[in-house]
Amino acid sequence: MKPVVLITGASSGIGAALAKVFAAHGHEVALVARRQDRLEALAGEIAATGRPRPTLITVDLERRDGASAIAAGLSSLGLEPAIVVNNAGFGLRGAAAALSCDEQLAMIDLNVRALTELSLMFVDSLARHRGGILNVASLAAFLPGPGMAVYYASKAYVLSFSEALHRELSERGVRVTALCPGPVPTEFQARAGLSLPAAARMLELSAERVAQIGYDAFMAGKRVVIAGIGNRIVVSLMHLVPHALLLRLVDQTRAAGAEK
Ligand SMILES: NC(=O)c1ccc[n+]([C@@H]2O[C@H](COP(=O)([O-])OP(=O)(O)OC[C@H]3O[C@@H](n4cnc5c(N)ncnc54)[C@H](OP(=O)(O)O)[C@@H]3O)[C@@H](O)[C@H]2O)c1
Repeated sequence: MKPVVLITGASSGIGAALAKVFAAHGHEVALVARRQDRLEALAGEIAATGRPRPTLITVDLERRDGASAIAAGLSSLGLEPAIVVNNAGFGLRGAAAALSCDEQLAMIDLNVRALTELSLMFVDSLARHRGGILNVASLAAFLPGPGMAVYYASKAYVLSFSEALHRELSERGVRVTALCPGPVPTEFQARAGLSLPAAARMLELSAERVAQIGYDAFMAGKRVVIAGIGNRIVVSLMHLVPHALLLRLVDQTRAAGAEK
């Protein structure tokens, strides 16, 4: 079977940038998202640089059969993942008790369940190709997030799961890296109902920069990478601030970032 880099959420933002970075470094990529037209446009862009045309798999990963549909699609083409990049995800702003419970459960299905299934289902082929898993977490993984409670909790899961998997799979030569971006201007904010407050804008990095940081860290076998020096400082400071104060600060920052 031919090895590919499987990238979820490749139709926009960080995922599209990761697809370009992996392709530019000579990897053949298989791109997953729901919007076929966006994937086609990106595949055209990558092919125009002289790289192999990406394989496209249109799947809704909130569905229970999403991951197995990807496995079936790849295997029917004689492909298997050497690297899995679990990037697809979304957030929702608002008090958890006020937001739709179904939508928040769908977020868990995507951010947590699909990521877990795709991390575990290809381990044999990742080991065969001495590849690994790059999971996109967030700065949100490091603290609870009043005003985006389920999203923050989902990213805490991604970070914790990825770090443990990094240790468990190291014996098999499988690398696992958690990429933790801070604010990145993508379609994420519109879907979540957020606009970035001025303070957060100072920490902003482009999707391209974050993708390159994630790629480099993964290739270097790092367990966790926080994108950008500003964001690394923020995480260090979080450990110094009392938890109750931190929760209040997050809540106030979130309120300042609410869409008017
Ligand atoms: N932007 C930020 O500030 C930021 C910060 C930290 C972490 N992150 C994380 O970075 C990752 C990428 O986000 P982004 O900022 O690049 O956002 P984005 O531009 O909204 O991209 C999200 C991607 O996920 C895909 N996706 C969403 N729902 C899906 C579903 N049900 N099935 C399959 N694919 C689905 C979308 O494609 P379709 O709609 O075509 O399906 C899209 O390609 C997410 O995990 C996010 O939590 C983002």
